Amino acid sequence: MRDGLAEWSALSTKKGAKAAMKLRTMADLPVVDKRVLVRVDFNVPLSHSQVTDDTRIRAVLPTIHTLQERGARIILASHLGRPRGQVVDSLRLAPIAGRLSELLGQPVGYAHDVVGPDARAMAAALEPRQVLLLENLRFEPGEEQNDPAFARALAALADVYIDDAFGAAHRAHASTVGVTNYLPSAAGLLMQDEVDVLSRVLNRPEHPFVLIVGGAKVSDKIGVVENLLDKADAVLIGGGMANTFLQAEGQDIGRSLSEPDKLDVARDTLRRARERGVALKLPLDAVVAAGPNESEGARVVPVDRVPPEQAMLDIGPATVAAFAEVIRGARMLVWNGPMGVFETPAFAAGTRGVAEAVARSDAFSVVGGGDSVAALEQMGLADQISHISTGGGASLEFLEGRALPGIAVLAVKDEGEDA
Ligand code: 3PG
Repeated sequence: MRDGLAEWSALSTKKGAKAAMKLRTMADLPVVDKRVLVRVDFNVPLSHSQVTDDTRIRAVLPTIHTLQERGARIILASHLGRPRGQVVDSLRLAPIAGRLSELLGQPVGYAHDVVGPDARAMAAALEPRQVLLLENLRFEPGEEQNDPAFARALAALADVYIDDAFGAAHRAHASTVGVTNYLPSAAGLLMQDEVDVLSRVLNRPEHPFVLIVGGAKVSDKIGVVENLLDKADAVLIGGGMANTFLQAEGQDIGRSLSEPDKLDVARDTLRRARERGVALKLPLDAVVAAGPNESEGARVVPVDRVPPEQAMLDIGPATVAAFAEVIRGARMLVWNGPMGVFETPAFAAGTRGVAEAVARSDAFSVVGGGDSVAALEQMGLADQISHISTGGGASLEFLEGRALPGIAVLAVKDEGEDA
């Protein structure tokens, strides 16, 4: 998948966005013996100071190993949660340094500040191949403000900068954007891989190309549906967001979750799909119950028979079969968002069925979004997916065709372009 320089077509509706971009890569930077600041996305779930899902940490190991082979001194920087410029003890990165030490099989230094005396002394003392993790970037108010003084202080810790935090590429922060004003910079291997794969979806869709979206809200996913409608052969919509589409088609949806202010958007999407000959498929049946916490008495009904006091909480078996049939014929698949309230066993079968169909498929499959990925992990199917994106919001924005600020700053400038 890592086929040379990443090509990125922003396909952005935003004025000034470039039609195609190449990213500077690690190979373009001198790193031997250098201090290399690597922005990573270690925004991982913790429970009782233990990392409960280390996918994002494992995803940057290739970059760390490559830098180590080249004798770099490695300074890692990440955010965790949203402390909004305050020091929050439960959001310290100590547990992450511990997990990374285990994965690397060597001690990882942990600085108790971001650009303070501890970080500066530890960065200065690094030997080749040693790894240091700075404290949570978002303890510093200057991070989210993209404050030049903070960006300069971060840059002062190192000689070169590598961005491997695809998950944070949609944020224009000091550690993703500002710092590139002060250090030679390039994309890490994970960033490159994510951009390569998602660019392939946007620029070289293979047909039949099937988009599967779910999750609670139309507003979260409609940008992706709109952007991919011209490329997709079929769009399968499940989860809470399907209710608004069913309502837009005139169905009575009982007490199901819906977004009345998105009915026009849904109608417009249905119309555009019809005009373009895209098979936009909505649920045929659903698992209904009195509410998401009331699984007793849950039963399957056709979507035109939802009782007034009940809510649709999962797609039903006829929908799973219909979706699976479309998925079986696909050559490229993108899936983002669960088909129901899958955390509750009574409402998990739809998401499970789609996960199995996607995993079984021979198509080039790309899955993003925490919930769909969690479902695949739970079912032990993650290794049957061609690419699992480490980005939640970032992968959605990318597939919406938007220019991501953390990627734009890594682009090779066109010849003749102003510096
Ligand atoms: C994510 O988990 O999607 C990224 O780490 C970005 O986090 P944020 O939404 O808090 O900026």
